[in-house]
Amino acid sequence: MLQAQQSSTTVAVFGLGYVGSVTAACLASIGHRVIGIDNDLHKVQSLNAGKAPFFEPGLEEIIAEAVESKRLSASQSVAGVLDEADVALLCVGTPSERNGNLGLDQLRRVCEGIAAVSANRAKPLIIAVRSTVFPGTCDDVVIPIVGGLPGVTVVSNPEFLREGVAVNDFLYPSLLVVGGHDADAVAKVAGLYAALPVEACLVTLRTAEMIKYACNAFHAVKIAFANEIGALSTELGVNGIEVMDTLCRDNKLNTSKAYLKPGFAFGGSCLPKDLRALTYRANRLDVKIPLLDAALPSNHEQLARAIQRVMEYKGRKIGIVGLAFKENTDDLRESPVVTLVEHLIGKGVDLRVFDPHISLESIYGSNRNFLLNAIPHIGRLLQSSLEDVTGWAECLVLTQKPSAAALESVLATGLPVIDLVGLGLEAA
Ligand SMILES: NC(=O)c1ccc[n+]([C@@H]2O[C@H](COP(=O)([O-])OP(=O)(O)OC[C@H]3O[C@@H](n4cnc5c(N)ncnc54)[C@H](O)[C@@H]3O)[C@@H](O)[C@H]2O)c1
Repeated sequence: MLQAQQSSTTVAVFGLGYVGSVTAACLASIGHRVIGIDNDLHKVQSLNAGKAPFFEPGLEEIIAEAVESKRLSASQSVAGVLDEADVALLCVGTPSERNGNLGLDQLRRVCEGIAAVSANRAKPLIIAVRSTVFPGTCDDVVIPIVGGLPGVTVVSNPEFLREGVAVNDFLYPSLLVVGGHDADAVAKVAGLYAALPVEACLVTLRTAEMIKYACNAFHAVKIAFANEIGALSTELGVNGIEVMDTLCRDNKLNTSKAYLKPGFAFGGSCLPKDLRALTYRANRLDVKIPLLDAALPSNHEQLARAIQRVMEYKGRKIGIVGLAFKENTDDLRESPVVTLVEHLIGKGVDLRVFDPHISLESIYGSNRNFLLNAIPHIGRLLQSSLEDVTGWAECLVLTQKPSAAALESVLATGLPVIDLVGLGLEAA
């Protein structure tokens, strides 16, 4: 157990459900003074009696100790308890509405409750939204209710704990995220967790809200992926557990940051072909694998978005930098750039193309045949130097990661750049 250091910060935790009770008890256990607020009398009485309001391993002990040390107490009413608080953590429920939309009634009511008792507030208060809320909720729902109150700032501080191991997840976090418009408020909320073995990620308000959804969606996709590979493996007489265990042994390409950055569509000689073969075989075996079935259509959508972005520059001379399906290869098989270029040609866009590894003079073998016979209309647009493109174009499209020198040349032109790779360049 981590050592409690007496803190001078008082935290009000709104909502004493799974997230709020664990948050309140654990923050008290690391030295903060915590007041829990819930309109459910049972939860309030339970906490004040040093008991957990529901079963969660380790929670009862930590609550009992925190109440005994007088660092934790609970109340049903906000009046009178908020005056002393430096930070209010909102941990109320955000259940699904009937149509799948996020229900924000509890959040709105808590904010209105805070606003009702804070009109003449003397002490600054940071309101940190810990509930899972969609990007824009703090800006569009929370700040309009509480943003005008004296000394009140709003941040997002999403929770990542898992029920069943919630206390351990809180005290040994996998991730700590705080986002907001006010850097001091963000730092102060991150400071609440300074005793925990985790480095805070300080981000923008909407990024903090979005990260929670990205994490949960990623977990769901991982589970569905493993289950689909498992189901197909079983049907093929293969041990799916052994397959996935072995897959996870690759920490370079599989369980790593690789392929986890928004960028251009995938292509090449392997991924589309192998996905097609896998989904074809699954269909023949009557194994439903909707997640894997969706990968190629998803890739087409990414390509369609790229085409749309470039088409917004209609009427201008467009320079395409990169033709192969990725950097450092001359392989044109199933390159999404070929599809992009063909589409733009079809729409009458004025184009020139450069790829450092593809030129009519030096390319040979199947790629030369492909270029000359299958896509001669693109071959005609190929330039032998980057300058031939940058000196002519009114807008540049980066389709693969350029070398440092090429990127420098591109940026030096001052031309608008459509960055399909995810280099973080903004289209001017
Ligand atoms: N449960 C999890 O594992 C988990 C993990 C991470 C994030 N989250 C998110 O955290 C949020 C809370 O989840 P939970 O599972 O703890 O919900 P929960 O339903 O268990 O708890 C919500 C609590 O808020 C209280 N409440 C509602 N309105 C209130 C008000 N006006 N004033 C005071 N208290 C009020 C309720 O009485 C209840 O005790 C949700 O947005 C959820 O998506 C949950």
